[in-house]
Amino acid sequence: MKTVYLDQAAGSFPKAPGVSAAVAGLLEHGGGNINRSSYALSTGTGLQVMAVREELAAFFGCSACEELIFTPGATQSVNLVLRGLLRPGDHLIISGMEHNAVYRTAHALTGAGIALSVAPCDGTGALDLDALDRLFRPETRLVMLTHASNVCGTILDIPGAARLCRRRGVPLAVDAAQSAGHIPVRLDELGADAVCFPGHKGLLGPQGIGGAALSPRLARAMTPLITGGTGSSSDSPEMPAELPDRFEAGTGNLPGILGLGAALSYLRSAGLDRLRAHEVALTGRFLSALRGCPHIRVPGPPRPEDRVGVISVDFLRRDNAEAAADLEERYGILTRCGLHCAPLAHRTLGTFPRGTVRFSLGPFTAPEEVDAAAQAVLALA
Ligand code: ALA
Repeated sequence: MKTVYLDQAAGSFPKAPGVSAAVAGLLEHGGGNINRSSYALSTGTGLQVMAVREELAAFFGCSACEELIFTPGATQSVNLVLRGLLRPGDHLIISGMEHNAVYRTAHALTGAGIALSVAPCDGTGALDLDALDRLFRPETRLVMLTHASNVCGTILDIPGAARLCRRRGVPLAVDAAQSAGHIPVRLDELGADAVCFPGHKGLLGPQGIGGAALSPRLARAMTPLITGGTGSSSDSPEMPAELPDRFEAGTGNLPGILGLGAALSYLRSAGLDRLRAHEVALTGRFLSALRGCPHIRVPGPPRPEDRVGVISVDFLRRDNAEAAADLEERYGILTRCGLHCAPLAHRTLGTFPRGTVRFSLGPFTAPEEVDAAAQAVLALA
């Protein structure tokens, strides 16, 4: 039986052409470390890393390439921003569609004297801007919002939220775990101060590499999450003030960075617009095929243009976990079921605590695979 991988929201597969060669190339020929030693092997790899940083900084609309910080992934980036900025007495606003990367980190900070408010979203996952507007306080220090839901794909109105934040001089941080590589994610266009992104999802790179794109004002206000050696200002016991070193202690994931660079080259040559058109077409195809079935609920916006390629199904006459197991065993269709590390989102969508069966699509997903998944859902429903 052929396997149909529809768990792209958990991790893209296959990776972009060129990724594994770039990872292997560094491991086999890269040698040494970067930013420490002055021999050509080290400086050569340093230049390659710099080139990827420049590409990513341009991709995410940074004003300078130093404002693109490499991290092990989106979760670490979220922790970098929240823990680096917030202090006791501050107030943080998040949305009702957050993944635990944001929710658990925000919740942990309430134990350190930081007040937390959750801006409600409607039953499709769309952000209620009026409700968000009412939550601001004089001590609101940051708003952090997911860009696209990992449960049902809803794209939140980040530019609308940015307008509210700008009016009050409050920075806005965006969790782009499900949007980066799918839709444009630029600090300048969104009006955001931070974008936290993984390399292994929509960007089609390897696991263990991601980053944070920061505005200069946010970068200036943040303290490092991790301290240690940077190869710069080594005479000082303090972390250097310069970016990116301030936030990049220790040896980075050099194979991951070069793998992500190869993935970016692929995305550039394939064209984000073309990949997005493919995603919207397949999402629409899936939603249309499921429409009208009385035995399932499909939370999220009805229009594919309002989502990334993530479709959740709630089976009304059977257990969702059993349905996911049947999808794999009988049809070879690989999904993710449960709460998707996003209990807040499931509460908002009315699918807590039972969760849903999630199908997530990628640039290499074929129309026939979507048709097979839709037919299997209807048969199991
Ligand atoms: N956060 C990833 C997901 O939604 C792992 O599946």
